[in-house]
Amino acid sequence: MIEPHGGQLINRIPCEEDRLALLEKATMLPVVTLTPWNLSDLYMIAIGAFSPLTGFMNQTNYTHVLNKMRLANGTIWSLPITLSVSEETRDKIFSSPTVCLQGEDGEIYGLMEVEDIYEADKTEEARLVYGTIDAEHPGVQKTYEQEAFNLGGPITLLQHPTALQDHFQTPAELRETFQQRGWKTIVGFQTRNPIHRAHEYLQKTALETVDGLLIHPLVGETKKDDIPADIRMKSYSALLENYYPSDRVILSVFPAAMRYAGPREAIFHSLVRKNFGCTHFIVGRDHAGVGDYYDTFAAQNIFHQFSKDEIGIEIMAFEHAFYCIKCSSMATAKTCPHDGEFHIHLSGTKVREMLKNGQRPPKEFSRPEVIEILLDEVQHDHEDE
Ligand code: ADX
Repeated sequence: MIEPHGGQLINRIPCEEDRLALLEKATMLPVVTLTPWNLSDLYMIAIGAFSPLTGFMNQTNYTHVLNKMRLANGTIWSLPITLSVSEETRDKIFSSPTVCLQGEDGEIYGLMEVEDIYEADKTEEARLVYGTIDAEHPGVQKTYEQEAFNLGGPITLLQHPTALQDHFQTPAELRETFQQRGWKTIVGFQTRNPIHRAHEYLQKTALETVDGLLIHPLVGETKKDDIPADIRMKSYSALLENYYPSDRVILSVFPAAMRYAGPREAIFHSLVRKNFGCTHFIVGRDHAGVGDYYDTFAAQNIFHQFSKDEIGIEIMAFEHAFYCIKCSSMATAKTCPHDGEFHIHLSGTKVREMLKNGQRPPKEFSRPEVIEILLDEVQHDHEDE
């Protein structure tokens, strides 16, 4: 089995006896309310998905990550994982070494030992993490919406969030599953979209050289115009049923929030998939990008700043894939000699437009089973508007 990032799979979930005692203690502590995004981060930290993180970042790690893409101890880490609080909350918890982490639903989800409280430099954070300070960028917008201060320190999970879908396995569980299947090499695939033929081409090309494929769609918070996770899950299941070998492919959800941080998020996505037990990770064109903020291959090139050993998971980089009418097959610029006029590729925006108008994108772009599900849901939505 591949080593988790930083060498050890973190587990911040106490045994049942301790959990009950800590829950009781938590009711007497000052409360910090978590957004759904914070709650997702809390959970990902607790189950070891964000290993080696044991909590929300303190100021030293935050500054190192922003400026060097490394934690203070030198381990590569590309995105800040922070818990922001208002000035009012900061004053309330000022002298308490431990705080209770509560969801917006009033449930207690965890505890945090407060190491420090510091002011976040949001503009600098946006510039360094997203490469832009433009508030139109969905990740930057989220950064600007955060409160003024960050709370840093290790966490303990006291209750699992309920919103998780059926297809979910923790890093430890997935590692166990891979072992049971006898897979030594596993390629992970990140997506926040319905899977189209280009995605399928990347996945199956990669699968030719490894033992198994983990389709690991992100189902945490995404921007409003992305297709909701429950609809996507239906489309993934239909696709797997009809076009994928069940003994070689696992579908499991990745309940993290989408940052749209392009290159930096590609690093984050790969390290986290290493924690889930993947040995390989696919990075295609404009991975985790949005709009025109990033160069097409920036998310692949950023890996050159680090040694392969330090990243620890093999990156499988792919060129822009499409269906070529002349080749009568899927291809990329690397394998197809024909002009763009013979290539079928549609943007996400174009597909959404077509679906809204009841048009079916061509089967060269997407499997008809997927289109049926999307068409059904989009039109349903349209009628409700
Ligand atoms: S992402 O935000 O999760 O990266 P998306 O679901 O579109 O978005 O992409 C999933 C993965 O497939 C990413 O690695 C992306 O780079 C890759 N990808 C998407 N479309 C193509 C394409 N036409 N050619 C090559 N790679 C692609």
